[in-house]
Amino acid sequence: MKTVAVFFGGRSTEHDISIITALTSIIKPLELTGLYRVLPVYIDRSGNWYCDERLSHISFFRSKQFEKNLSQVKPIGVKLSNGLTLLMTSRIKQREIRVDVAFPAMHGTYGEDGSLMGLLEMAGVPYVGCNLAASVIAMDKVLAKQVTQTDNIPSTPWVWCTAAETALNTDTVIARAEEQLAWPMFVKPAHLGSSIGISRVTNRLELRNALEVATHYDDKIIIEQGVANLVEVTLPIMGNEAPRPALLERPLTTAKDFFDFDTKYLQGGKKGGKAGGKTAGAQGYSELPADIPKTLYDRAIEVGLEVYRSLGCSGTARVDMLIDSKKDEIYFNEVNPLPGSLYAHNWRAAGVAGVELVEKLVTLAEERHGILAKRTRIFSSSFLQQF
Ligand SMILES: Nc1ncnc2c1ncn2[C@@H]1O[C@H](COP(=O)(O)OP(=O)(O)O)[C@@H](O)[C@H]1O
Ligand SMILES: [Mg+2]
Repeated sequence: MKTVAVFFGGRSTEHDISIITALTSIIKPLELTGLYRVLPVYIDRSGNWYCDERLSHISFFRSKQFEKNLSQVKPIGVKLSNGLTLLMTSRIKQREIRVDVAFPAMHGTYGEDGSLMGLLEMAGVPYVGCNLAASVIAMDKVLAKQVTQTDNIPSTPWVWCTAAETALNTDTVIARAEEQLAWPMFVKPAHLGSSIGISRVTNRLELRNALEVATHYDDKIIIEQGVANLVEVTLPIMGNEAPRPALLERPLTTAKDFFDFDTKYLQGGKKGGKAGGKTAGAQGYSELPADIPKTLYDRAIEVGLEVYRSLGCSGTARVDMLIDSKKDEIYFNEVNPLPGSLYAHNWRAAGVAGVELVEKLVTLAEERHGILAKRTRIFSSSFLQQF
């Protein structure tokens, strides 16, 4: 039986969401396949690693005694030498468990942004989802737009700045934005998700304040021109060489609460049930499939797939697009390499059950690893002899 280690929690603002993604959409379905020995690897907010059967249960994390209970679990060590091995020590003995496939379930910083992928890459263990490079690019809103733009994928006009530059000369940054963009504008920390630190601004003063807020969160900021007549759509995609789209989905959270973390994550089950194509999904209430004209729907699927290829995504990712519904223009917005709950509700509607989804993702990870392992890495030379 293959051992699959699921990594979740982590030093990110999306720590809690990661726990839900891991426990409900990954660990449980992986166990249900009956194919794997599933290890929960929980990383706490301070960066301690734990692996214990108790960590597969949501009750452990919801308990009022959480801190106390966790203090009774012994942190683990890891060995990265020729594969990934988890080291569990107790007073009596040391146990080593070799991991066959790693399944990252960490959103945001130190997880989804390539940090964990770099570690897994060094260990040489197959891992689920986007590789190091794609994760790094996807989690930087500026880099992602720079890369897709060179592949002629349209995005709304934007400029960027660093926090240092903004602190030194805010007026220059404001002048640059005003010169190149029309109001309203959106100011965003380049590396964060969940609308944290994002502001919609309609004048110079608001822009100045928004820059100050955003620079509290990040050292790189993107300022975008607002898309008018906005229809937002999102597309989960799965695959390596031959990516397949799920259904185009239209989140129905309103523009007013766009920055509202609660709306996205906490009211998901309350705002709507499942009726008339409306689904309470991972990010709140949504329309699935998006009820937009067929030609626009098909074009959005194409744009999504182009973005996936352009950024070098593999395994799975979710591409978000902004549509100006009067002009029928589709703009690339961002890519989430680890969509909350894997967007399992969407895949289910597209005919892929949760159990099948995680099994496919593990297979895709092994497939990508297999191809890389076959690459020639040895180059013989007499360099050392000549020295
Ligand atoms: N350029 C834009 N024009 C109009 N609305 C936008 C624009 N950028 C962001 N938004 C709104 O803000 C939300 C959050 O922005 P987004 O870039 O998706 O950040 P996050 O990473 O936090 O999801 C979007 O879902 C959308 O509703
Ligand atoms: Mg978004």
